[in-house]
Amino acid sequence: MNLRIPGPTPLPPEVLQASAGQMMNHRGPEFAAILRRVTEGLNWVFGTSTDVLSITTSGTGGLEAAVVNTLSPGDTVLSVSIGSFGDRFGAIAETYGATVERYSLEWGEAADPQEIARRLDANPAIKAVLVTHNETSTGVINDLEAIAQVVRERDRLSLVDGVSSISSVPCPVERWGLDVVVSGSQKGWMAQPGLAFLWLSERGWAANAAAKMPRFYFDAKRTRDSIARGENPWTPAMAVYYAMDRAFEMMRAEGLEGIYTRHEAIASYTRERVAGLGLKLVAVDPRRVSNTVTGAWWPEGVDGRAISKRAREEFGVVLGGGQGKLQGKIFRVGHMGWVAQEDIKAALDVVERLLDEAKVLS
Ligand SMILES: Cc1ncc(COP(=O)(O)O)c(C=O)c1O
Repeated sequence: MNLRIPGPTPLPPEVLQASAGQMMNHRGPEFAAILRRVTEGLNWVFGTSTDVLSITTSGTGGLEAAVVNTLSPGDTVLSVSIGSFGDRFGAIAETYGATVERYSLEWGEAADPQEIARRLDANPAIKAVLVTHNETSTGVINDLEAIAQVVRERDRLSLVDGVSSISSVPCPVERWGLDVVVSGSQKGWMAQPGLAFLWLSERGWAANAAAKMPRFYFDAKRTRDSIARGENPWTPAMAVYYAMDRAFEMMRAEGLEGIYTRHEAIASYTRERVAGLGLKLVAVDPRRVSNTVTGAWWPEGVDGRAISKRAREEFGVVLGGGQGKLQGKIFRVGHMGWVAQEDIKAALDVVERLLDEAKVLS
């Protein structure tokens, strides 16, 4: 099976083997050592001097944790959305009683940092900006460094969805001045679904102290205090920690620069192949294309769903489909985590063959 959805991603055999380890006391010294190593690994990749928290949940749970730990009902937030995950982040804030101002772009576009600046200047009530770093539904990456700068200059809080970016592309959260940042184990981290990662800056923790949204399981302070003592507040997804522990050994061996360069090279190859097939990228600005997932339009008159079905059933290639309003109109190729150019070549060779056949038949 060539699993090319943008997460969960295929895992290295070493990681699979590690995650099959026997259970242990999740409050004992052995697990405390694993938790510490995984936390150090997260701090290394996020680029932080304070601990990244790990929570047993999926990426969406991580986004919910970011919201409920830093905001109060009635707070105004600017929700920057360039696709379905951006919409989701805003919906979470709304669910918990925030007043959500939306800056929503056409899917395929990236957010304009200057427009964010303009909106913040126009509405001093905006306390926080919710933004997706890498929008997995379209294959577009926002200029997060520039966005962070305009948010910080205006003394607002940034809440960032880095679920499909951090670990595969640079996102040094302290250096960029971000405040609340989330990622998820099943993306570029080379582990199963089950853990979300949450980091808060000093300003983020100050907001936490005043935040009134209801929370129990996702309480960041409780999680931080518990992790400092060498355990999670609740029973964690232990097997995913085993996986992460092993995955970090591999990531450290490759080095962050090596990982980022590999992702960049494979993403470039993917885009070249897609262009070679005469297909248009969903991403409209070539400077804002994602290095973890590529979205492309199926050509007019071609039944994309039928091609995806044949790819899966006849060739074992599993493509990502379109989400929401892009369903049936685009396909997505995930290239994050444990991936090599040959995996993408094999998948796109199949797409090429099936597209050729579809053209012959039409
Ligand atoms: C950018 C982004 N945000 C949030 C999520 C949600 O994560 P999960 O499906 O793990 O809840 C995903 C997962 O696809 C994602 O790619």
